[in-house]
Amino acid sequence: MPDGQHEYETDESFRHDVVEALTSDHRRISSKHLYDARGASLFEEICELPEYYPTRTEVGILRAYLPEIAKVLGVGVRVLEYGSGASVKTRLLLDHLESPLVYHPMDISRQQLAETALKLGRDYPELDVEPLHGDFNAQVEISSAARGDAPLVAFFPGSTLGNLDPDDANNLLRRTRSLVGDRGGFLLGLDLVKEVSVMEEAYADSAGVTAAFNLNLLDRMVAELGAVLDRGAFRFESSWSDVQSAIESRIVATRSTVIELDGRTHPFAAGDFIHTENSRKFDLDRFLADATTLGFPRSKVWTDDAGWFAVILLQTS
Ligand code: TRP
Repeated sequence: MPDGQHEYETDESFRHDVVEALTSDHRRISSKHLYDARGASLFEEICELPEYYPTRTEVGILRAYLPEIAKVLGVGVRVLEYGSGASVKTRLLLDHLESPLVYHPMDISRQQLAETALKLGRDYPELDVEPLHGDFNAQVEISSAARGDAPLVAFFPGSTLGNLDPDDANNLLRRTRSLVGDRGGFLLGLDLVKEVSVMEEAYADSAGVTAAFNLNLLDRMVAELGAVLDRGAFRFESSWSDVQSAIESRIVATRSTVIELDGRTHPFAAGDFIHTENSRKFDLDRFLADATTLGFPRSKVWTDDAGWFAVILLQTS
């Protein structure tokens, strides 16, 4: 691979989204572009940070309750994971399930998907690992051969649902409902609203890993799109928004500067920003009420003692 190029669907969708962001009034780049190879590895570092409680808390809940969760899911299920990444939590799940038949990891990072599929296939020889390359915001197709009649369980840990716009999140729930049918379920992890300082610190770590993770977008623009910019003129910022019930992350210009791309100059005044991600935090009761209207009338919920995070199994009947 040539320098600076990643094995990833980079060029066109990344270029398209960057150009669109730079030319619009509300500059915003989909957070999926944070996860190139370097971004994915920085994200793994974020998960280990003392301030970043979500991963630790969710893994704690899974460790404590997976025996029980696996019993509810039953024998011989197929698992589809949205945004499988390094599939760390998947292993916990697979280790507890009784004779799971198929695992479909789904991810936009082709490289990470291939590596994960290979390793899991090796470590779980009885399991049929069938990767699905793509964006979980689009319709998921599973071939009828792969379907069989084993119940399908969609797995979506990490509160990633909170990174989707509310409309996209609802659409994902609706699509998942029709995909899993009447016998399947949707197992997901959601970060819950809590004290603002705890949430804010999780996105402003003292080691600066979260900043590097976000500013990596600028490096991608330079390396992959040939953009010209002054990286030192930008910093990372994040804050809680009550209106959105989310931590909002952005890359902010610290002084007046420009980003040049494809012969066009995009000016930034000091304080102008590119929005990189919303990390929505949920009210459990409201979420369950919404899920009911989207086709999941029953649910089971497991939380940590402090009630910071919830692992939820949405059921269709
Ligand atoms: N999607 C994760 C989250 O919302 C990843 C993440 C952690 C993140 N820190 C971030 C995304 C900072 C954007 C900015 O928690």
